Amino acid sequence: MKDFNLRKENSIGIFDSGVGGVSVLKEVTAILPNENCIYYGDSLNAPYGEKTPEEIFELVHNVVKHLFAQNVKAILIACNTATSVAVATLREMYPEISFIGMEPAIKKAVSTDKINKVLVMATPVTLKLDKYQNLQHKLENQAEFLSVECPGLAKRIESVDFEGEDLKQMLREFLEPYKGQVDNVVLGCTHYPFVKKQISEILGDIPLIDGGKGTALQLQRVLREKNLLNDQTEAGRIVFESSKDTEEELAIYKKLYDMYEV
Ligand code: DGL
Repeated sequence: MKDFNLRKENSIGIFDSGVGGVSVLKEVTAILPNENCIYYGDSLNAPYGEKTPEEIFELVHNVVKHLFAQNVKAILIACNTATSVAVATLREMYPEISFIGMEPAIKKAVSTDKINKVLVMATPVTLKLDKYQNLQHKLENQAEFLSVECPGLAKRIESVDFEGEDLKQMLREFLEPYKGQVDNVVLGCTHYPFVKKQISEILGDIPLIDGGKGTALQLQRVLREKNLLNDQTEAGRIVFESSKDTEEELAIYKKLYDMYEV
């Protein structure tokens, strides 16, 4: 049985199937600049969103064990797909450690003034599993939800070429049917914020909502409650790791981190 030695100065472990969670890491370091963070991208096994839940759970569990070995004090699952599949089981298996998960931020898309038409973009697994279905069901009388599975999109974003015509074509195929039909869009996969500009080029000037900031705030609340916020005054250390363990891959994570604006 693992002996968790949870201390304020330990790192926070943050992971995703690949580059997507870097968008969440950036929100975390904006809100918690003094925290040490280890970012792990499972790029070798990306995308998760088109695998079976059993395959995804095994991959996620391996990443979690890898982060435990580095004595993390909490784990942020910066991936909607991995959260849908694994967070409940992980919390049962390891009650000593806090797991902060992600879900498509549809609560933020609801308006009190009118019944918004909300388009939710996510991976096939996220949209199918109970976690999202139950969430949508709870909000059903406050908005009209449409959803679009985007197979292939996270994988395409892993290539970090955001200008290619093939990416634009892929996005047009997913989104053109909704042009002029929806009030806002929820980006229910942490890879998608990297192509916000390309999404807006198709759907026009409507709000694109993601859960990165809300999740970072939730992490802050959890650490505060557990008295685990790092009280060092200097800036925290950020370490990038990847299952595709090459200089190039780690340079990509770092570049996306520097480039992404929150
Ligand atoms: N970034 C992920 C998410 O938030 C997973 C994408 C994938 O690997 O399919 O769902």
